[in-house]
Amino acid sequence: MDIKGKNALITGAAAGIGQATAFALADAGAAGIALADLDEQGLKDTAKVIEQKGAKAVTGKVDVTDAAQQMKFFEKADNELGGLDIVHNNAGTICGEPVWPETSLDKIALVVSVNLIGVMYGTRLAVDALSRRGGGVIINTASTASLGPMPADPMYSATKTGVVNLVHASAGLAASHNIRVNAILPGMTQTQFIGRTGDGTKPAEWLGPALAQTTMLSVEQIAEGVLTLIQDDGRAGECLIVDNPRGDGEPPQSTRLKDPVEFYAFIAERAKMMAALT
Ligand SMILES: NC(=O)c1ccc[n+]([C@@H]2O[C@H](COP(=O)([O-])OP(=O)(O)OC[C@H]3O[C@@H](n4cnc5c(N)ncnc54)[C@H](O)[C@@H]3O)[C@@H](O)[C@H]2O)c1
Repeated sequence: MDIKGKNALITGAAAGIGQATAFALADAGAAGIALADLDEQGLKDTAKVIEQKGAKAVTGKVDVTDAAQQMKFFEKADNELGGLDIVHNNAGTICGEPVWPETSLDKIALVVSVNLIGVMYGTRLAVDALSRRGGGVIINTASTASLGPMPADPMYSATKTGVVNLVHASAGLAASHNIRVNAILPGMTQTQFIGRTGDGTKPAEWLGPALAQTTMLSVEQIAEGVLTLIQDDGRAGECLIVDNPRGDGEPPQSTRLKDPVEFYAFIAERAKMMAALT
């Protein structure tokens, strides 16, 4: 898809990866971008920049776990932009500390609601919105946590694996609805999200050793991956992993997994490698 002149909707657009994707879409000539998040100030900041870049901004304080709020925002975006071509279901959260199995029941409900139900609502609503334009692209943000168990936060890894399953199950929409549904799987990316793994302000203790030996990804590198999934018409039901570079100054490690066969083969290899390390 040529992004020039197209309209997009992004959730989790007030900061981090969603914000960077909004900027990248505006740079690529998107006509309008509908920005959804809980953080109204962050939405204003994102909207201001994309308007400076020449795109029309529509903002909405939306809790993605609330079906009615998401539906209303899709309608608003559709009406004010004149239709939607791209939907990026990106809002996400993590349980943080105390870690599993001391995780509170409220946090379990929150993470499942935002990361899985929110993305499922967004995907479902996108099918109707994009169909009105004759097709389009949906990108759901998963994670490298989709690739295996995460003992400190199984809710996070389970929901992110669920997002991949939803994308695989939706591959056929390319043929039936002219809608390509793909997943982006970022590695550790420099955003406020890393602080949410701990007490909300600083990273979790369990993440410390990994962070110490990791070259972080930038939000721009993840946004570039999202744009690839939008622009390449040959991609449907795919996972694009954008993993951390091997070292400073190195590019991200990108892996394209075209279907469940490639995805589960990759996971099996990774599981064997992890087992050999322990
Ligand atoms: N940062 C990383 O290392 C990393 C790695 C892999 C995947 N991800 C995923 O990328 C996505 C974006 O994360 P980020 O790193 O940009 O984090 P971020 O915290 O900077 O951005 C997430 C945004 O989602 C919004 N949000 C949270 N709950 C919401 C809700 N119920 N309704 C609407 N908006 C809500 C937040 O307000 C925030 O603006 C998430 O799905 C996350 O799981 C992040």
